[in-house]
Amino acid sequence: DFDTFDISEELGFLLEEPLTHLPDYYQVWLDLANNLEHLIETGKLRELVHKMPLLSTHLLSNHRELRLAHLALGFISMGYVWQEGQQAPAEILPKALAWPFWLISRRLGLPPILTYADTVLANWKLTDPTGEMEIRNMDLIFSFPGGESCRGFFIVSQLVEMAASSGVTGVLEVMHAMKISDLSGVQRGLNKVTQSLKRMKETFKLMHNHVDPTLFHGKLRLFLSGWRDNPLLPCGLLYEGVSDEPIFLSGGSAAQSSAIQCFDALLCIRHEDETGAFLTRMRDYMPTAHRHLIETLSVGPFLRDFILSRSSSDLCQAYRSCVSALVDLRNYHLNTVTKYIIVPGNRARAIGCPFRGACTALNKTGSGGSVLMFFLKSVRNNTQKALILKR
Ligand code: HEM
Ligand code: ALA
Repeated sequence: DFDTFDISEELGFLLEEPLTHLPDYYQVWLDLANNLEHLIETGKLRELVHKMPLLSTHLLSNHRELRLAHLALGFISMGYVWQEGQQAPAEILPKALAWPFWLISRRLGLPPILTYADTVLANWKLTDPTGEMEIRNMDLIFSFPGGESCRGFFIVSQLVEMAASSGVTGVLEVMHAMKISDLSGVQRGLNKVTQSLKRMKETFKLMHNHVDPTLFHGKLRLFLSGWRDNPLLPCGLLYEGVSDEPIFLSGGSAAQSSAIQCFDALLCIRHEDETGAFLTRMRDYMPTAHRHLIETLSVGPFLRDFILSRSSSDLCQAYRSCVSALVDLRNYHLNTVTKYIIVPGNRARAIGCPFRGACTALNKTGSGGSVLMFFLKSVRNNTQKALILKR
């Protein structure tokens, strides 16, 4: 099962040992991506992209090379579009960027935009390769402006994703135990998910020590924004040489993380209407094998039916604890969003953004394009509703 769904027992959905180098032929891409922070801050990136040669993608030969190429072109594209701040996004992605990005994306089954699968799952390395996977020994492969806060935001997200890995194992165990009607197996798997959700929340708290709200809001956030449901780019982005019509794609967001969507699917938590449609659409931004796990869970057999058909109060209790831990994580997330988006957003609106390329236009829109507070509260409320277990 781990192989079918491309899951690592230790790292969950994180890509194992992401590459940091490509064949020499692609050095132009890596030179830009490796210096992105500086090239954006000095306003030189667009000019250099205009000088980029159109490279063939044929020398990329395996999954990890494709993931690194997607990550690099994704970072360069976001930098290219948003270099001049919220006032002046680029409306055309030049062919030397757009065409190979399109081809690589097609081979991976990912969209040609920077996704969570790039910035979090495939954007990490160990400073000391023999050392532990802990915050002091981790670094990003590519970075946006925002310095330590950019690093902190993605690395903490990576650690939260790693804390989810035992929960994903729990999900697979519950699936298997249901198939063979093993009641205590289901309960054990569920407890694993609960423990994992609690560890995710504890890990999430690291955000406060490593990410500054003003820098996150004023410097980093814009570079995650896409060109669908984004008031700054209402007409999409033209991929030169790919299509004559502009393309609409959502920006990067943890809403594209497969872990939480797996837990929702396992626990049979229902998200309907706009909220459900947004979450379902985010699956298109996940690696294919991960998306398949969510889809497999969504067609049943269903855990809630299984629980309702047995009369085990222990099992009911295990289910409720698990849902509660998910509600708790979502409440914690809501508070974090207030601190990192709403509060600095209000301040920037009142006193003017302290940085060039202010980001106040996105105070009500998530980087993924959702109406953020409405969306997040509705997701949390839907989770809470699952606590009611009636026959
Ligand atoms: C969705 C902000 C960290 C998990 C969202 C959304 C926003 C947001 C605005 C709405 C979707 C959109 O982008 O349009 C933030 C901020 C964070 C943060 C400001 C930190 C400073 C995290 C972390 C996780 C996470 C570490 C890992 C568990 C999610 C999930 C969703 C989401 C799963 C989809 C809604 C849900 O299922 O509850 N986030 N996020 N976020 N975020 Fe975060
Ligand atoms: N999804 C997060 C935001 O909207 C990153 O800022």
